[in-house]
Amino acid sequence: MLDSGFVNDYIDSHLDKRQVNKIQHGFPSPRYWSELSVPMDEIAEDRHRARKMNPRSVVNLYVGVPYCIRTNPGKCGYCLFPVEEFQGNAALENYYTYVEREADLYREQMSDAILGAVYFGGGTSNLYRPEVYHKLMDLVRGLFPTIYPQADLTLEGIPQLFSREKMTAIRDAGMNRISMGVQQVNERLNRLSGRQQTTRHVTNALEWARELGLAANVDIIFGWPQQTTSSMLADLETLVSWGVYDITHYELNVGGPTDFALNRFHELPSTLSNLEMYRASRDFLTDQGYEQVTAYNFRKPGDPAARPYEEGVMHGFSTMDTLGLGYAAITFFGDPKLGDGHAWSFINWHNLQRYKDSLDNGEFPVERGFRHTMVDWRLSMLFRNIFSLEVSRPDYRDAFDIDVYDEFATIWDALAERGYAQVEHDRIRLVGDGPFYTPMIQTLLAEERYQALREREVSRSKKPKPRVLA
Ligand SMILES: C[S@@+](CC[C@H](N)C(=O)[O-])C[C@H]1O[C@@H](n2cnc3c(N)ncnc32)[C@H](O)[C@@H]1O
Ligand code: SF4
Repeated sequence: MLDSGFVNDYIDSHLDKRQVNKIQHGFPSPRYWSELSVPMDEIAEDRHRARKMNPRSVVNLYVGVPYCIRTNPGKCGYCLFPVEEFQGNAALENYYTYVEREADLYREQMSDAILGAVYFGGGTSNLYRPEVYHKLMDLVRGLFPTIYPQADLTLEGIPQLFSREKMTAIRDAGMNRISMGVQQVNERLNRLSGRQQTTRHVTNALEWARELGLAANVDIIFGWPQQTTSSMLADLETLVSWGVYDITHYELNVGGPTDFALNRFHELPSTLSNLEMYRASRDFLTDQGYEQVTAYNFRKPGDPAARPYEEGVMHGFSTMDTLGLGYAAITFFGDPKLGDGHAWSFINWHNLQRYKDSLDNGEFPVERGFRHTMVDWRLSMLFRNIFSLEVSRPDYRDAFDIDVYDEFATIWDALAERGYAQVEHDRIRLVGDGPFYTPMIQTLLAEERYQALREREVSRSKKPKPRVLA
């Protein structure tokens, strides 16, 4: 266990530092996924074994698109996701034939699975022409014999690429939700990203979604260059006045060779201003009747188009099975009942040509992965529960035979002292500014294991390479 002096110093020295890591949905960070040979046959067998033990567990599906329309500055000025410039519909639809081929490779493995949710993301998934959406849903239905009745079937896109015709095709194909990246409602601020989006694009898309009975989520970002708390609140007020039930409010993650990091760093609000914005947005949205469901998701009850929110989908420790299809897609798989070393994270090629070449060779297009020990798996599940703001102590004990308070007592105590966490007999909850500091809390929880992984990486890099004899 970390010494409480170290924990307190760490927290004190990080409170006013920009949180360079964003919230992680699993452990460890993909930086540590260095296994180049991922045993797909073993993973398939393990999945069947896990489902036999836990027949009600669900699989979430993610399907990615590499392409986005060109912006000036590139990549919307801030985006850190791997994406490629849109090359036209022929290239996009050719790419999609590869996704279908990848899905074929998983058909047997998914034959006894229940689909819990689908997310068509990216990149920009509403680049597809209207006639393609039914193919996307055919792929889903072909791969999963059983679909959970309350499943969210979501397609993500940008406002200016939605049209009534496209939205109708999305609904007719069987999807039931859209997620729209708006980023800034304020047109002047939004233009800093080079996106050609107007308020009209956003209101039209929301109107069509409502008419067609599709649930709609809006992503926006705070901590944007030149943004103030009052411009942020003006955007939130507008979204509330438009009747948006589902708002994702991300803090800007600044990094890499992006325009915002290189050329607008001096225009960014400070970390403490971001904290101020977080508090103001949370208080405003909760006053307006929204519930905070994760560190950055706010949902207003009563949406006629939404499916009931399932506790078990976000919380719990038994499984977090996610299948990622497509360019740079990420897959997680594991079940604590399988024991040590049977959980995996892996990522597909983020080089489009390599992705296609693997499939042309009849191989899974996996670039690299990470085999989790039970400690890694436990941290992954803890990260996920922390993200949705609370950890159940009895559930954690049932899954791992250890009390989550005892395991990290010095960290919980330090967080509780500062009003960031509340330790109760049956749960630990992030409160106050705790959710804002989720990345820092995750780093602390994982510090000891990260140290061991760093040492492993160093010793691997020092190993003499095998000599090649001429
Ligand atoms: C990967 S993008 C794809 C969605 C779509 N292409 C778009 O731009 O709206 C998904 C969401 O991630 C968020 N995002 C992307 N880059 C980000 C960053 N650097 N910091 C915070 N959020 C970011 C945006 O809110 C975006 O809507
Ligand atoms: S923010 Fe969205 S549209 Fe912009 S580059 Fe990233 S994924 Fe593409």
